[in-house]
Amino acid sequence: MKVVDTVAAMRDARRQAKGTVGLVPTMGYLHEGHLTLVRWARRQTEVVVVSIFVNPTQFGPNEDFDRYPRDPQRDLALLEREGTDIVFMPLASEMYPQGFSSWVDVEGITDRLEGVFRPGHFRGVATVVAKLFNIVEPHRAYFGEKDAQQLRVIQKMVADLNMNLEIVPVPTVREADGLAMSSRNAYLNPQERQSALALYKSLTLAQGLYAQGERDAETIRRRMIQLIEKEPGAKIDYVSLADPDTLEELDRIEGPALASLAVRIGTTRLIDNMMLGGGN
Ligand code: PAJ
Repeated sequence: MKVVDTVAAMRDARRQAKGTVGLVPTMGYLHEGHLTLVRWARRQTEVVVVSIFVNPTQFGPNEDFDRYPRDPQRDLALLEREGTDIVFMPLASEMYPQGFSSWVDVEGITDRLEGVFRPGHFRGVATVVAKLFNIVEPHRAYFGEKDAQQLRVIQKMVADLNMNLEIVPVPTVREADGLAMSSRNAYLNPQERQSALALYKSLTLAQGLYAQGERDAETIRRRMIQLIEKEPGAKIDYVSLADPDTLEELDRIEGPALASLAVRIGTTRLIDNMMLGGGN
């Protein structure tokens, strides 16, 4: 496994790579969710590149950039075990040198859901992912459905800007009790870890109501909200039933719908989603 920390060294390694290249962009502190993306890349492509970069431009001024969990040595050991070929872990000064001033703005869908609560977040995500695509030049890049809106923003960017690669969505990996795996779960104390289950429970409630024939979106949203509000220490940012393509809120559910939510458990902000009807 080659570990590189400059753009020049990454390009060198890329030049020597033979066959199809798969990229898994991450911010590190890897868990089974990330490793599942790596396994998909390992199966589908000949050269697997994983990037580890806690991207400062996608964090707001009052967000958790400084305390975001980091453990590069552990990450490298895990990636080695998965048969990763190249790990790209640049410093912020390498990705954003003095004078950096070009940004990728995906308009429209970034105004909704996460975009309302994290202004500028998707501009940072789209910009760093576009840079990674230009540096690594992968044939395929792997993204988790856990971050449903991020996946759509990247798909839109690739389509709008004619980027020459395939985006592969990977289903959400969960803990045994249903909690979606996330690096941020490390922030939760045991009591909060219990409360965090409210996200999963409210999504399965939504799926249950949908399966029973409920098609009024507001009824489902209300039941999800009631369930979460019963949880001590849980504060809702949003509970959404939206069109999976436009992310516009629905009144009635006619086609497939994306149920998604963001909830703060103490000081930890968690997101999760599930599809109602159809695939993701
Ligand atoms: P990060 O949160 O580290 O996630 C890296 C990738 O792993 C993303 O595609 C995310 O959707 C996926 N992932 C995280 N948890 C998952 C789970 N439980 N199941 C399946 N996939 C999961 O997302 C980012 O980093 C950043 O925004 C990034 C795209 C790297 C740009 O900086």
